Amino acid sequence: MYLRLSLFLTLAAASCAADLTGNWLVSIPNSDGTARRTYLNLKQDGARITGTIRVTQFFYTISSSTGGPEAFTVVGSMKDGNTERRVTYEGKLVGDDELRVSTRRNVNSPPVEQTAHRAPTGEGALPARLPLPALHKVRDNGLVRTPPMGWNSWNKFAGRVNDEVVRGIADAMASNGMRDAGYVYINIDDTWEAERDAKGNIQSNKKFPDMKALADYVHSKGLKIGIYSSPGPNTCAGYEGSYGHEEQDAKTYAAWGIDYLKYDWCGARTLYTDDEMQALYQKMGDALLATGRPIVYSLCQYGRADVWTWGPDVGGNLWRTTGDIRDAWESMTRIGFSQNDLAPYATPGHWNDPDMLEIGNGNMTETEYKTHMSLWSILAAPLIAGNDLRNVPPAILEILTNRDVIAVNQDKEGRQGQRAWKSGDQEIWLRQLAGGDQAVAIFNRSAESANIAVKWADLGIKKVPASAKDLWAHSDVKLTGPDFSSTVPGHGVVLLRLGK
Ligand code: GLA
Repeated sequence: MYLRLSLFLTLAAASCAADLTGNWLVSIPNSDGTARRTYLNLKQDGARITGTIRVTQFFYTISSSTGGPEAFTVVGSMKDGNTERRVTYEGKLVGDDELRVSTRRNVNSPPVEQTAHRAPTGEGALPARLPLPALHKVRDNGLVRTPPMGWNSWNKFAGRVNDEVVRGIADAMASNGMRDAGYVYINIDDTWEAERDAKGNIQSNKKFPDMKALADYVHSKGLKIGIYSSPGPNTCAGYEGSYGHEEQDAKTYAAWGIDYLKYDWCGARTLYTDDEMQALYQKMGDALLATGRPIVYSLCQYGRADVWTWGPDVGGNLWRTTGDIRDAWESMTRIGFSQNDLAPYATPGHWNDPDMLEIGNGNMTETEYKTHMSLWSILAAPLIAGNDLRNVPPAILEILTNRDVIAVNQDKEGRQGQRAWKSGDQEIWLRQLAGGDQAVAIFNRSAESANIAVKWADLGIKKVPASAKDLWAHSDVKLTGPDFSSTVPGHGVVLLRLGK
């Protein structure tokens, strides 16, 4: 009897030890004192594993599983707007306190091996969904009557941005002509955040020892400073978001001397649907206004839920219209040339944002970067440089600081240009400027040089313009009659300013 009982107990203990049930944490330290955390909250029920997987900003529910402690696979799934995201973890239990797992970024990438340990029950659980405010119109803050101009850390530095970089960029912008050409905002993007203190105040991480001092420094250079957060519990890079702390964070930003906020949907997708975005963006719009400090409000939710129809109502000054840009001709042109239908939504203080500039990041030619700058100027798009301005080749600086092109971008009437003509890879875009001038951009999207010939009438220009200036060649162009032709290099542009 004793033998049978002890055998039973041993077996029970063994099967208990070999159970996957538990809250498992993979914690990978970032060099800034924060950590990248993944929680696998598993429940093993015989041959079935259920539960959730939280990977930084994503929160998946396990939808299928196979295997057990010696070798298992779990697939998590979550709704993200109209699409479904999935993640797969394979793994095995080692001893009682170690879960070795591997996952892939996508089907073709190599597996990433990770080790998880047991974490307290409830840690990493998604916070409760807070009720949404009723919609109302947030008062216009009166800022950025022409498209904002400045610099943002993400395209070049991503997680490597820090206090020293920002100071260096401020020094450079104040002395290399960028500030004087109108680029005034220095925007710190994701990865500056640490966790909250005991009172719930957001703190900066080791990379930014003193945000107030940094803001003072940037201001002392005649520049302004911007910061980044998310309406969700986490940002895109998995750092602390403003969820449930909107007013508190807005006050902190104001106390630091922040002049611009980019507010990025990311982590909010785990709790809210796209239809609920407006209310969440409104919350922060109200909070920023309530601080009494002028803070530009930049909405970043990738152009979902027709943001251009409600962006101004939440106090937004600009709103991203697409997914992230890359430093590649294909990405830049796919985004830039797809903005035609949004033109009616741009008005002074409220801008469509086809994302930040990649000019100078090295993966496009100078000709292509001129096309980028011209297109963004025709589009009345924010001009937010994204390269390392501390060490910028003269040719790149010339592109970014071309005053004539900037004057098109900054035209005070703020009317966004549109496509006026297209033939294969050739496109001509027109922008109406104050005082009856017009900007005409003749784009050649093919790789070969082309002679592009049109009649002014084909562009809707009834009278032969009185004058034309080539804004890249810095020379006057002689107009001879109803026909116009121009030789445009492959992937290049001829940008003209026409006088009445
Ligand atoms: C998103 C945004 C980017 C950048 C990153 C930071 O992808 O669209 O512009 O802010 O997040 O994590």
